[in-house]
Amino acid sequence: MSRKTPKETSNSNSEKSANFDDSFLDQTLRPTRWEEYIGQKHIKDNVKILLRAAEERGHIPEHVLFYGPPGLGKTTLAHLIAKETGRQMKITSGPAIEKVGDLASILTNLSPGDILFIDEIHRLNKMVEEILYPAMESGVLDIIIGKGPSARTIQLDLPPFTLIAATTRVALVSSPLRSRFSGGVFRLEFYSNEEIEKIIQRSSKLLKTELEAEALKEIAKRSRFTPRTANYFLKRCRDFAQVHKKSLDQKTVREALNMLAVDEIGLNPSDRKFLEILIEKFGGGPVGLKTIGAAMSEEEATVEEVIEPYLIQLGLLERSPRGRVATNKAYEHLGFARPEKKQEKLL
Ligand code: ADE
Repeated sequence: MSRKTPKETSNSNSEKSANFDDSFLDQTLRPTRWEEYIGQKHIKDNVKILLRAAEERGHIPEHVLFYGPPGLGKTTLAHLIAKETGRQMKITSGPAIEKVGDLASILTNLSPGDILFIDEIHRLNKMVEEILYPAMESGVLDIIIGKGPSARTIQLDLPPFTLIAATTRVALVSSPLRSRFSGGVFRLEFYSNEEIEKIIQRSSKLLKTELEAEALKEIAKRSRFTPRTANYFLKRCRDFAQVHKKSLDQKTVREALNMLAVDEIGLNPSDRKFLEILIEKFGGGPVGLKTIGAAMSEEEATVEEVIEPYLIQLGLLERSPRGRVATNKAYEHLGFARPEKKQEKLL
């Protein structure tokens, strides 16, 4: 089945990265109406008003920025906005727009009212970013022709468009760029356990997979409060049950997820390695991000964006001004004894 809806187009450079970001959340599972989108109520309420008000005034919606950990549905929200407003959406990403000319070509090829979705907007380079400012604010493209004293600027009018951008690292989006998202800057939160259960329920129906109630709960418990992970686990459990000719009960789900090395609270080998290094090599911290990244042979960005948010959410890790600190709960979960001195300090 094609991964694209008829309305979507993508510019060729970007297709790979946009699909990569979405690789676990295929078209079938993606909500296509607001009523189907579970959770993130604060964002839904605000965005719906923004879209409705723009429609009533006969304007196009203002630009919005979504941020938060991976897998929480930033891209899904952009697709939903496009579907609900009946607009065409072009998809690209920060690293795919290498040169000013790449952005100029994307913008001049938009049709009036289109949505432009830029994923990983924090990875736009400075020159490209500066071209984006007047495009977002005044709908014009400033092009510099020539070099040195004879250089001159020409201004091209652009078709009116709505920019929807997404990032996992809002702190790396410059404040001039952030301030141009006049429709709002919205933070996606981790989902509650009940919301994840509803998402799994919905997905299992769409995948025509029978799932016992306890099995559903087991998948939810290990899903990191993240829909992409929940849907990924559901699909892997379905594969496992099919291959082993078993029904999807709690025991089968446990076997399937244990095989994926996901423990009962959703920690994967990288999460456990992070905590083990923090505790065993650095006495539980505080230790800086650079140091722990180097000790794990992992990129700092991955540690900060992918590993830490969930550990913090679970209360296994704290970020203090002096660095990362493992909590008592982390010691307990991994079965380490807390050194006396540290225990006293925390009491
Ligand atoms: N699939 C991924 N995210 C979802 C959400 N928030 N609601 C319903 N299904 C989803």
